[in-house]
Amino acid sequence: MDFKLTEEHLMIRDAARDFAKNELLPGVIERDEKQLFPTEQVKKMGELGFLGMMVSPEYGGGGMDTVSYVLAMEELSKIDASASVIVSVNNSLVCWGLETYGTEEQKQKYLTKLATGESIGAFCLSEPEAGSDATSQRTTAIDKGDHYVLNGTKNWITNGNSADYYLVIAQTDREKKHKGINAFIVEKGWEGFEVGPKEQKLGIRGSDTHTLNFNDVKVPKENRIGADGFGFTFAMKTLSGGRIGIAAQALGIASGAYELAREYSKIRKAFGTEICNHQAIAFKLADMYTEIAAARHLVMQAAWDKDMGNNYDMSGAMAKLYASKVAMDTTVEAVQIHGGNGYVKEYHVERLMRDAKITQIYEGTSEIQKIVISRGLLRD
Ligand code: CAA
Repeated sequence: MDFKLTEEHLMIRDAARDFAKNELLPGVIERDEKQLFPTEQVKKMGELGFLGMMVSPEYGGGGMDTVSYVLAMEELSKIDASASVIVSVNNSLVCWGLETYGTEEQKQKYLTKLATGESIGAFCLSEPEAGSDATSQRTTAIDKGDHYVLNGTKNWITNGNSADYYLVIAQTDREKKHKGINAFIVEKGWEGFEVGPKEQKLGIRGSDTHTLNFNDVKVPKENRIGADGFGFTFAMKTLSGGRIGIAAQALGIASGAYELAREYSKIRKAFGTEICNHQAIAFKLADMYTEIAAARHLVMQAAWDKDMGNNYDMSGAMAKLYASKVAMDTTVEAVQIHGGNGYVKEYHVERLMRDAKITQIYEGTSEIQKIVISRGLLRD
């Protein structure tokens, strides 16, 4: 098997690595502490093409493959998972969804701005009573002829306040269950659309996560994505790709924590020698490195499946399930290797440990990934 990356892949990985080190690392602790959105950094990521990496150049994107995208996601996430989730949602959920299923008018009007980072997008599926159980949408979109009227509440929305455009999933015909669900493009500022309170989070504190309220919001019919009733399939298809991005984020968090732990273990002395010379530490590093390598294989497999046109529902779910577990385990061990220093902010690993947890929750909990994988296994 040839696992060799192309020159272009390596250039993209190095560009993301440099950006993370030079632009994301300064201020990352303060942004985490004060829950500050990385406005300037997001602007620069847009200019460098990180916000629409896989979008066709025709719509202002980079025309890159999924392998390039996961390489960039890993590098950005090593340093700042708050910034990388903004990249992930914009690329995988919003741009991909619009490019794949949007009309030409929708692409010209919205995608061209989202792909360049001129505008930011959000993906609004989760509700107070419909997180994992996504078919139980309470938000309604009633068909009024030339427009829909949207009512309801969405929860835990990444880019909730910073987005300009929102892909909103809502129930049009409850009798038809998931076949009566639609997806819509909603613009910030439309009458009746209100950004609710910001969540106070354990991790990824630099990203802004909000509740959104829709009170009789008029959505023109041309802003529906796909045919009537396509919304649930749209959400599932979009999330399948989104999970590859989050798997790469988890991989990056794990690699970042591993690299910090390795460096620290070569400097910190205890019992007369650098702590890496104690097997208690060296064996931890061996386990971390091995698990990260296994996670990387799964992430690459899923990205490659997507690039090859293979089905990636299962491989994406496997990558997310495993990489998020590795992120959690690795960051906990990285804190342990740092001892007391691991518990304070300036060594970064405590933040990575807090950030890791969300990768087991958003875009489908680990349990949801197991549902997707086991259904795939037992289909025939
Ligand atoms: N592609 C296409 N269609 C799909 C699909 C996929 N990947 N997965 C399911 N479907 C279709 C099924 O074929 C079925 O259609 P038919 O009836 O026509 O056959 C329909 O959808 C319903 O499927 P299920 O019966 O399997 O539905 P279910 O209720 O049992 O649930 C689930 C399936 C996988 C659990 C799904 O509800 C799910 O993925 N839940 C988690 C949702 C999620 O990830 N939420 C995260 C929010 S987004 C977020 O976190 C973004 C952010 O801000 C970071």
